[in-house]
Amino acid sequence: MEFSGKTLVLSGGTRGIGKAIIYKFASKGCNIAFTYNSNEDEAKNIEFDLVNQFGVKVRYYKLDILQPESYKELFKQIDEDFAHVDYFISNAIISGRPVVGGFAPFMRLKPKGLNNIYTATVLAFVVGAQEAAKRMEQNGGGAIVAISSTGNLVHTDNYAGHGNSKAALEIMAKYAANELACKNIRVNVLSGGPIDTDALKKFPNYEEMKAETIKRTPMGRMGQAEDLAGTALFLCSEDSHWITGQTLIADGGSSFT
Ligand SMILES: NC(=O)c1ccc[n+]([C@@H]2O[C@H](COP(=O)([O-])OP(=O)(O)OC[C@H]3O[C@@H](n4cnc5c(N)ncnc54)[C@H](OP(=O)(O)O)[C@@H]3O)[C@@H](O)[C@H]2O)c1
Repeated sequence: MEFSGKTLVLSGGTRGIGKAIIYKFASKGCNIAFTYNSNEDEAKNIEFDLVNQFGVKVRYYKLDILQPESYKELFKQIDEDFAHVDYFISNAIISGRPVVGGFAPFMRLKPKGLNNIYTATVLAFVVGAQEAAKRMEQNGGGAIVAISSTGNLVHTDNYAGHGNSKAALEIMAKYAANELACKNIRVNVLSGGPIDTDALKKFPNYEEMKAETIKRTPMGRMGQAEDLAGTALFLCSEDSHWITGQTLIADGGSSFT
């Protein structure tokens, strides 16, 4: 019953890892405020499905993480729909045109693409977590999770821009954890190995990368979005009440092979 009646705010709930996480939280009775960027129809379907399956309150909102300050307006809308915010998960990631020059081999990296990835990964986390923390403080505390990836530990083709921003995100989360602990707000990072989502399918060498990932994953298969959802729930649960400022890796063992 721990999650029943609580509220999770999550960015990027229409696909992949974010979608798996909101289904997991809703299955535990948690109310859900999630964001979409381009897939409004899918957001609507998910809202309908979650309400029908789990009887929780669900709302979806448009957000562009390339405009981090827009989190302020988003949280004002959430205030009108939900009495409190208990958990915030910074999950959304950009792809396609905005990452041109950022998702590339080192010699083809360009400042604009790299800056976009930094904005979407680190700056969006900062503003989103600040707004969430203001609400959590009023309610006696909460938990914040940033989604990272092991691309800052293991070389991944074209991933220098993302890997470097994920490394910065992990340090930012440590600072947030240190400074928010006195408000009973924990901040942690969930770092995943390669997960079979749309983001990964956009890699030019997707099939080759998938085969290679399976080969170097001791658990013997590709990670699925659902493989991260339980760990995200754990990092928000009372069972992890003494964990803050940490990065928890869920990768089937692939970062040590
Ligand atoms: N896939 C992996 O291998 C992997 C591994 C470890 C960690 N991660 C991390 O896990 C997180 C989710 O990744 P994923 O693979 O699930 O991604 P994904 O399948 O590509 O989904 C991306 C999500 O972000 C939203 N989004 C896209 N552009 C946006 C923008 N400009 N502003 C706001 N939201 C935007 C999308 O919304 P719309 O559908 O509405 O456009 C979608 O909900 C990311 O932080 C990623 O770095 C991924």
